[in-house]
Amino acid sequence: MIRHLLSGGDVDADTATLILDTATEMATVAGREVKKLPALRGRTVVNLFYEDSTRTRISFEAAAKRLSADVINFSAKGSSVAKGESLKDTALTLQAMGADAVVVRHPASGAPHRLANWVDGSVVNAGDGTHEHPTQALLDAYTMRSRLGRLAGLHVAVVGDVLHSRVARSNVLLLSTLGAKVTLVGPPTLIPVDIAQALAPGIGVSYDLDAVLPNVDVVMMLRVQRERMNDSYFPSAREYARRYGLDVPRMRRLPEHAIVMHPGPMNRGMEIAPEVADSPRSTIVEQVANGVSVRMAVLYLLLGGNNL
Ligand code: NCD
Repeated sequence: MIRHLLSGGDVDADTATLILDTATEMATVAGREVKKLPALRGRTVVNLFYEDSTRTRISFEAAAKRLSADVINFSAKGSSVAKGESLKDTALTLQAMGADAVVVRHPASGAPHRLANWVDGSVVNAGDGTHEHPTQALLDAYTMRSRLGRLAGLHVAVVGDVLHSRVARSNVLLLSTLGAKVTLVGPPTLIPVDIAQALAPGIGVSYDLDAVLPNVDVVMMLRVQRERMNDSYFPSAREYARRYGLDVPRMRRLPEHAIVMHPGPMNRGMEIAPEVADSPRSTIVEQVANGVSVRMAVLYLLLGGNNL
């Protein structure tokens, strides 16, 4: 097993499949009256969040607690980070406290990689800037596999603000490893063609959502990351929704079996219409539930937990 999980490219097909299979086992715990396993008793997991988060932070906390680990939640607000403490000094503090795993979200791309050099425990990247978010890619793969029965040979359209999306980057890497075909769709200003090709060979790019929809098994909508935009990448929110938003008429262009995904948080009415987000084809709520099982599997395998 790998020691850290920093990138969707860190896992080969066998390791990814082991994580997904372990997550399937973990999911059975969620259905029990006592949702707890003793696997990580006595181990310490620190959640280090320098950036806002709802789903991911709660999900990692639930995952660690269901495995009986001791969980320390650290958010940059209200800590000495607000006094200017560096990531390195924070890392040394965590090290002194004996953290077995550090789950980190940070606005700077590459911060988890730096952290991995400073602590002895395992580092899990919970989202670094516009770079990567590997557990999101794993939970997305898990959701596709459980809805559609396989990953190899699936055609996945990743739609929207690819340029600023760590979810897209990690998904492209992992899905390519697992034998799915990926097409990136969005306005040319938000699709870095050279970056797509450099990430994984054979990635498709299209600027025409209507043309792509009839040929996909999965459509993954991305949030328009306005907080990361310091330029105007499209004329207006209305114009964006008109060309790249998934509304009901567009959803009807999908094959019967195709699913609609979104990592959340959504801009309802912009990249996705409310009727689509709440439709039976949407896996958005399932993705959140699956996230806990997948993060349990990741923590369990990285920390070499006791037998289940
Ligand atoms: C994503 C993130 O934070 O990168 N959300 C998540 O983790 N569920 C996507 C986003 O913010 O758009």
